[in-house]
Amino acid sequence: MRDPHLTPPLRRQYLEIKRRYPDMLVLFQVGDFFEAFDEDALTLARELGLVLTTKYMGKNLRVPLAGIPVVSLTHHLRRLIERGYKVAICEQLTPPGRRLIHRDVTRVVTPGTLLEPALLEERASNYLVSFLVEDARAGVAFVEITTGEFAATEASREQAWEELTRLGPAEVLVPQSLAHAEGAKIPALTLGRAATITPLADEVFAPDLCRRALQDHFGAASLEAQPLAIRAAGAILQYLQRTQPRVVEQLDRVHSYTLDAFIALDPQTIAHLEIFQSRAGTSEGSLLAVLDRTITPMGSRRLKQWLKYPLVDLPALRERQEAVQWFLDREAIRREFRAQLGQLADLERVIGRVKSGSVTPREVVALGRSLRALAAIRALFAEDPPPLRPRLAQVIPQDTIAQLIAEALVEDPPPSLEQGGVIRAGFSKELDELRALLKNGKAYLAELEARERARTGIRSLKVGYNKVFGYYIEVTKPNLHLVPPDYIRKQTLVGAERFFTLELKEHESVVAHAEERIRELESSLFQQLCARIAEHRADILRAARALGELDVLATWAEVAAEYGYVRPQLVAEPRTVIRNGRHPVVERCLPAGQFVPNDTALSTEEAQILILTGPNLSGKSTYLRQVALITLLAQVGSFVPAEEALIGVTDRIFYRFGAEDYISQGRSSFFVEMTETAAILNRATSRSLILFDEIGRGTSTYDGLALARAVIEYLHHHPRVRARTLFATHFHELTELEQLLPRVRNFHILVVEENGELRFLHRVVPGRATRSYGVQVARLAGLPRPIIRRAEELLAEYEAQGRRALEAGRRVAERPGEYATSSLREIADRLKRLDPNLLTPIEALTMLYELKRALETSGSE
Ligand SMILES: Nc1ncnc2c1ncn2[C@@H]1O[C@H](COP(=O)(O)OP(=O)(O)OP(=O)(O)O)[C@@H](O)[C@H]1O
Ligand SMILES: [Mg+2]
Repeated sequence: MRDPHLTPPLRRQYLEIKRRYPDMLVLFQVGDFFEAFDEDALTLARELGLVLTTKYMGKNLRVPLAGIPVVSLTHHLRRLIERGYKVAICEQLTPPGRRLIHRDVTRVVTPGTLLEPALLEERASNYLVSFLVEDARAGVAFVEITTGEFAATEASREQAWEELTRLGPAEVLVPQSLAHAEGAKIPALTLGRAATITPLADEVFAPDLCRRALQDHFGAASLEAQPLAIRAAGAILQYLQRTQPRVVEQLDRVHSYTLDAFIALDPQTIAHLEIFQSRAGTSEGSLLAVLDRTITPMGSRRLKQWLKYPLVDLPALRERQEAVQWFLDREAIRREFRAQLGQLADLERVIGRVKSGSVTPREVVALGRSLRALAAIRALFAEDPPPLRPRLAQVIPQDTIAQLIAEALVEDPPPSLEQGGVIRAGFSKELDELRALLKNGKAYLAELEARERARTGIRSLKVGYNKVFGYYIEVTKPNLHLVPPDYIRKQTLVGAERFFTLELKEHESVVAHAEERIRELESSLFQQLCARIAEHRADILRAARALGELDVLATWAEVAAEYGYVRPQLVAEPRTVIRNGRHPVVERCLPAGQFVPNDTALSTEEAQILILTGPNLSGKSTYLRQVALITLLAQVGSFVPAEEALIGVTDRIFYRFGAEDYISQGRSSFFVEMTETAAILNRATSRSLILFDEIGRGTSTYDGLALARAVIEYLHHHPRVRARTLFATHFHELTELEQLLPRVRNFHILVVEENGELRFLHRVVPGRATRSYGVQVARLAGLPRPIIRRAEELLAEYEAQGRRALEAGRRVAERPGEYATSSLREIADRLKRLDPNLLTPIEALTMLYELKRALETSGSE
């Protein structure tokens, strides 16, 4: 081992920094390059296809080296991040001089902490999430560092998992001890993208440490009631403090939220309803694609967030509806407003970069233009309409700042500050003088050239400049004998000699100094301007958020107007009544007028369970999804594709698709189907909406039929899960249940047979389908005649047998008492789990009421 005192200073500086970031690639700035050494150099060279060399770092010391130019950092960062690396950027913090330059890590770049516009998807949020589990509870916190959104919640383990999926994070922080157990499952579960898992030492999640970190940063504790939320948020904060010292100051608020305020959507439901992505994995063909006609990036991100978090709170939903209605009624203003929004930069993200100092002059100019547009936008709503008032109140015009930007910066600045010419003439007297000096310098050189030509009589004498040698006087070989004695030789070329004079040298230093000073001055004026803008950050951010929301609301009005959506009536009772409803995505894929609208009437008191039969391709799945999507749209505050709708708010939407193929995941499809069905039955409440699309299909007919029927009976009888249910099936035997269970209704989808050909009408009507037409469809598909004939024979036999089997099952359905007992058992379980010492008096009282209510609805004494 070398004596540390003999280690050259630069090497020592590097090792010291590397020691603090052992699990990251350290990029060490040396002049115009970021260099990586040792192992990191090998990695960098391999991943980026760079040349691997060695660097001389002092006597007898050569280390592997790979470097990338400072200017192309972003480009290379993208590749490194995509490949799962974390990168610590270590910059030079003092200007180059003779002594050792001070360097430190200014930023750590990980998938969850990207700031560079080039690395971020403009219309999507990039979440950094932290997650911890303790017994049956879990804490989740998330932050979007580009917009400063920071929130945390505590929930049951199951709910927290769902929350994680819903957020679709880029990076998840987990305690080391959990990383292997829970952490390992995270990438498979998050939607659409694989999250990077970052394990942190368990201590980082320690309650006291987290509480203190939050208190020190935000002042008074903001997440009081939820201990696991505090720990999740505290861990994120500490992580950012270590990795993003410049960004973390910008977080000025963390709020807690409770998942009960939102419809719970599990990953399968989100995937099968194709809310954000179609099954093909693209956004095309998804609900989002139909709705995302937002203008601004803020609006687009907000729309996604609202779709992820449908509300259950009636007043909040009605408030959004009012705003949509207002925009719908005023087409001209709406159009003008959307045109104005088109003028806006990504205010939310740009203002973040202003504060962190990474903003470009061009972005500031665009920011200025956007701020000027705020006044025009406010002016559009001069009458201050009540439905928009709370949001408009946040849009405070920023004319002073807009004015300041306009005065300070040229209209069309170069992409980077270093290129110069950013500050407008007339803004700084000193800058103007220096620029004049440089400009006069040109005239001076021309004058000098003329003067020297006259003095020496050399007509071809030239005054020039190059980067290496500076200013010179060039004389061609044939004229060298005319050179006066005060010329000092500088450089020899093939056909000429270059000289300088004391006068020229003097000029050179004046110019160099002026240029240097101009650079300094432009940079410091720009930084001052940014600091001034940053003082208004909170206001600008609030305006940006409000405008993002208004963008969404106006977009919904636009969609409603164009696609013929209506305002649903929202009620608290568990009822759903839809007249001429349509599937928002399928209807857009068909030629106008081709989609067949259908009615729906569901209520837990009467038509609780609809059993839907109909041949393949008739539209069963489409109908189920349509009801789910209309409910979802209603509960984000949007209007819905129907002629009329009454939606009793739901607390959960479950959609299960029985024909799913899980082979790629190595799981039996039937087993998965049953696990998921169990999960639904455990979690549904009487306010839920359940859609079963052909469950029980993955096993033998009679097993499947028996299970499907037992599930329906359970949903019908069990007081807790008496949920609105749609059940699409090919088991025609199930339609017998209508006669046995009072709240079951049969519906089927009409098809007609014309000259032996099937015609799909896609109309949902009461009653059961009399035939499957499966054999018919097979004939259409060209199966040989003898097979078809034999199949027809067999079908008749099976149908007769099926009826007998159903009769045998009749007795079972008439024993609802058993379910009541099972509900008693649940109550007992809850009491057993309860620790009275941990309850506040209010909680105890609430619990008592709940238990009593549960007992009453279970129907037993
Ligand atoms: N209401 C409708 N109006 C017009 N076309 C429709 C309607 N419903 C469904 N379709 C068309 O029929 C196709 C098949 O619909 P869907 O997948 O819902 O049938 P299905 O009954 O679930 O079939 P399977 O039993 O094979 O699952 C859809 O892709 C769509 O093009
Ligand atoms: Mg189907």
